[in-house]
Amino acid sequence: MATRLVGVGELGETQVTIVEDTPHGTLAVGLSGGEPFAVSNRCRHLGAPLGKGRVDADGCLECPWHSALFDVRTGAMTRGPQGAFKPIAGVVKGTLGARKLKTFPVELREDAIWLTA
Ligand code: FES
Repeated sequence: MATRLVGVGELGETQVTIVEDTPHGTLAVGLSGGEPFAVSNRCRHLGAPLGKGRVDADGCLECPWHSALFDVRTGAMTRGPQGAFKPIAGVVKGTLGARKLKTFPVELREDAIWLTA
């Protein structure tokens, strides 16, 4: 049975939001290049809520705390944390980032993003 997660019009300019109480717990849900996605909400670095981040021009999900990037299709960290953490970004990506975000099947229907399984 499909579960409605969020209306596309509710996403705002960040193109991602937090949806609580789904069958898979709290998720970061949004649009990347016009395609819907749903991933686990906690950044692999220090646990920031990814649904409070943004989708960048390349369609990657950017963490709101230290700007690590995630591929929303695979859940992989594609860039480690920036700012004060930049000198160890590669190490973080190769260790904590090696555990991918969970990804969940979704579809666009009736101007909303739906969890399909
Ligand atoms: S908590 Fe996400 S990059 Fe630090």
